[in-house]
Amino acid sequence: MMEGGKQYCADSVAVVTGAGGTLCSRIAVDLAAKGAKVVLVGRTREKLEKTAAAIAEAGGVSRIEPGDVTDEKVVQAIAERVGLEWGPCRYLVNGAGGNNVKAMPTRLRFSEADYAPTADFAKDRGFFDIDMEAFRSVLEINTLGTVIPSRIFGLQMARAGGGVILNFASMNTYRPLTRVAPYAMSKAAIANWTMFFAQYMAPAKVRVNAVAPGFMVNERSKQYLMTPDGGLSARGEQVMRHTPAGRFGEADDLLGCVNWLLDDSASAFVTGITVPVDGGFLASAGV
Ligand SMILES: NC(=O)c1ccc[n+]([C@@H]2O[C@H](COP(=O)([O-])OP(=O)(O)OC[C@H]3O[C@@H](n4cnc5c(N)ncnc54)[C@H](OP(=O)(O)O)[C@@H]3O)[C@@H](O)[C@H]2O)c1
Repeated sequence: MMEGGKQYCADSVAVVTGAGGTLCSRIAVDLAAKGAKVVLVGRTREKLEKTAAAIAEAGGVSRIEPGDVTDEKVVQAIAERVGLEWGPCRYLVNGAGGNNVKAMPTRLRFSEADYAPTADFAKDRGFFDIDMEAFRSVLEINTLGTVIPSRIFGLQMARAGGGVILNFASMNTYRPLTRVAPYAMSKAAIANWTMFFAQYMAPAKVRVNAVAPGFMVNERSKQYLMTPDGGLSARGEQVMRHTPAGRFGEADDLLGCVNWLLDDSASAFVTGITVPVDGGFLASAGV
């Protein structure tokens, strides 16, 4: 909060990618409630419309800019349109990301079965059954899907005198979970990229940090963490045993950290870090 009760991001342009998703729809609504003019980016218009409706209902301002963040031309066009009509981006939240079930083996470890191709990919697959295209697509969305908007909006911020970028890492940044190799690799890369770009952009008064959420249920992770009747799956139980807080996280759990990292009056000297918001998952050895 700034002097006189005005919120730090009031009247500034905030670009939120993945703004139709579980976590960043909440962040977009929160930024709009604080007076930011929020640009909602994602591939599916209908998801963005839902977020825009929630923002409008609360009296906030947003615009929908559907597009794929791994496509440089698309992101450049969004940046130019927004720059002309609303002014330069001051805050970039790089929330777009995700996994692909085709890049996830069902088996946890190597066994004799790995010597032969799987007979039924949907039910039983090892690491060597995974198609490299699926592997590559996960790397691309989670790495270039952050790098491309950061380059384009980062330059816009530099020209305008500064700004703040917030990236999305994961518990996989620190140690890979089983079954999600390309997702884990790319989330490790996010912490590295966050440090690189923070030091490169410091002279331009652009800060770059990341948040590493713990386990927060979204439409995709529900399939592995929960059973159809809403109970915990075996994997969900394992996660819970390693989470001292004793629950999954929710989008609201991120807001304090996100606002701290975006707000120059609170974190002006903080750049290049990745902050876990994980209910203690990283601290727990699970024994
Ligand atoms: N939920 C968790 O437990 C958790 C934990 C750690 C890290 N994270 C990370 O936090 C971020 C947000 O997660 P979430 O749980 O909110 O996931 P989510 O609900 O799946 O939202 C992600 C959004 O990103 C968009 N997206 C995906 N690929 C895109 C692309 N190429 N271009 C533009 N938009 C794209 C998706 O919309 P479209 O498909 O319509 O494009 C989706 O709405 C992600 O980076 C995720 O990896 C989440």
